[in-house]
Amino acid sequence: MNALVIYAHPNPLSFNAALATVVEEELQKKGAEVNVKDLYGMDWNPVLSEDDFRSFHTGKLPEDISSEQNDVKQADFIVVIAPVWWYSVPAILKGYFDRVFSIGFAYEYTKTGSRGLLTDKKALVITTSGADEQTAETSGMLDAMKISLVDGIFGFSGFQEYQHKNLFAVPTVSAEERKQMLDEVRKIIKDYA
Ligand SMILES: Cc1cc2nc3c(=O)[nH]c(=O)nc-3n(C[C@H](O)[C@H](O)[C@H](O)COP(=O)(O)O)c2cc1C
Repeated sequence: MNALVIYAHPNPLSFNAALATVVEEELQKKGAEVNVKDLYGMDWNPVLSEDDFRSFHTGKLPEDISSEQNDVKQADFIVVIAPVWWYSVPAILKGYFDRVFSIGFAYEYTKTGSRGLLTDKKALVITTSGADEQTAETSGMLDAMKISLVDGIFGFSGFQEYQHKNLFAVPTVSAEERKQMLDEVRKIIKDYA
């Protein structure tokens, strides 16, 4: 299995960083080839520019986009790891999808509507929130994430299968509860990857 881990957190001591480590370890235990994209570490440019737009239509893509598209193409399994920021994800991650999951690569428009092109892949989206489970549900935050991020990107791009796992109340839970969350993520990778 070729696994691509797209990780977006600026703090190497964060809970998200611990999640990225655990995910990488479990994938390696399964014998996967693991390619980790630490978007802050890479200093990823998230801004879809006028030149990028033009390149989607001429096919002469900038090197940073074409290199990422090659890695996405090779992946069977994509794991996204990020905190919830303003009911969404950090802009650097949103900008990864804006630029890399481009028209003609991730989707196309046909006379009968849009068609996802990344149909040979599955994905797992792992997010963490400050909100507890009840608040995340009643406020509509979880639904917003599902619609805009999970279905809106992976469903739209034609992924065969995709799942979302949110870990709740991360800033206020105990160290023991965080450890349980990391174990839960290990199990998801074991069973789902
Ligand atoms: C800019 C910013 C926006 C945030 N927006 C939300 C939000 O909309 N909903 C929420 O539940 N938590 C929100 N949070 C809290 C983070 O999701 C939470 O602190 C993080 O998931 C904890 O993981 P970490 O320790 O790895 O950062 C926000 C935090 C920041 C810094």
